[in-house]
Amino acid sequence: TTPNRDNDEKSLEDLPKARFWQTIDIYRWENSWFEPGLMKTAMAFRSSFPAQDDDIFLASHVKTGTTWLKSLSLCIMQKNHQKHDFDILTTESPHFHVPTIESTIYATKPSQIDLHDASSPRLLHTHLPYAVIPDSIKNSGSKIVYIARNPKDTLISNWHFLNSIMKQNQEPFPLEMAVDCFCSGVYLYGSFFDHVLEYWLESKKRPEKILFLKYEEMKSDPKREVLKIAEFLGKPFENEREVDEVLWRCSLERLKNLEVNKNGSFLFYVPNSSYFRKGVVGDWKNYLTSEMEERINQTSRRKFEAFGLFL
Ligand code: A3P
Repeated sequence: TTPNRDNDEKSLEDLPKARFWQTIDIYRWENSWFEPGLMKTAMAFRSSFPAQDDDIFLASHVKTGTTWLKSLSLCIMQKNHQKHDFDILTTESPHFHVPTIESTIYATKPSQIDLHDASSPRLLHTHLPYAVIPDSIKNSGSKIVYIARNPKDTLISNWHFLNSIMKQNQEPFPLEMAVDCFCSGVYLYGSFFDHVLEYWLESKKRPEKILFLKYEEMKSDPKREVLKIAEFLGKPFENEREVDEVLWRCSLERLKNLEVNKNGSFLFYVPNSSYFRKGVVGDWKNYLTSEMEERINQTSRRKFEAFGLFL
């Protein structure tokens, strides 16, 4: 079924509205905040997406390691099908190969890309909160791999990213205000904290359905984490050499320097290169004052302490 556009438009007027970074109007829907275009595509996705039992969904808030997870999952899924010297990551950005559903497939007319024609198993991604993803995904045999990252690095990474695409040739948005915005939860796909928590709680209830990863653990023990992903996706590695190869292909330094990622843009306003920066755990220390740090810590404690997450 196609959602009724008039109803969507009308409901937009009834929803709480806020201004994100003094630049974009965002609306509260289903306890999270969305830019209106994304909210419409999220609505269409939720009401009409036909999940299949062998689908694989990657999920994340923004700037938590999505590009890395997309690259790794793609290589893992392809490893028995591709010739040794062929590397799919050299042909297009990882964001092309593993589309983010709400900003690509459903952002064009749903009929333009026929998901039925996509090769199976389909590997797709979403930034949407768990509450908003379609029941067809929740109730099918499909699997979800979620990647989370510590709040302070996530915020700093997004501050750099959004400044580069929204504030080109302008002063960066004041970091202090970005911290307020992040902690208040009035944030794109926000709140970040609730987003992480919802997927985490769901992964505890259904560990066979949702694998919950942390960026920091992937950095500190990439082998262990990539073996975990491959097992979860039903594509275990046959030998150590395969693991090393996938990790090397997906390393930040390598991806950053591939021609496809240095130039061009997959989404018309976002250069491919903007997805690769430093990839360092604790980079926030170079930016946040101790007051800002404490404000984020307080919010983290309030949201995560009971669950032992990111403390
Ligand atoms: P930094 O801004 O801290 O460097 P996302 O992919 O969700 O948009 O997240 C982007 C963050 O992941 C950026 O963090 C980016 O540098 C980092 N990143 C991108 N590719 C990576 C890779 N292959 N390995 C590790 N980190 C990666």
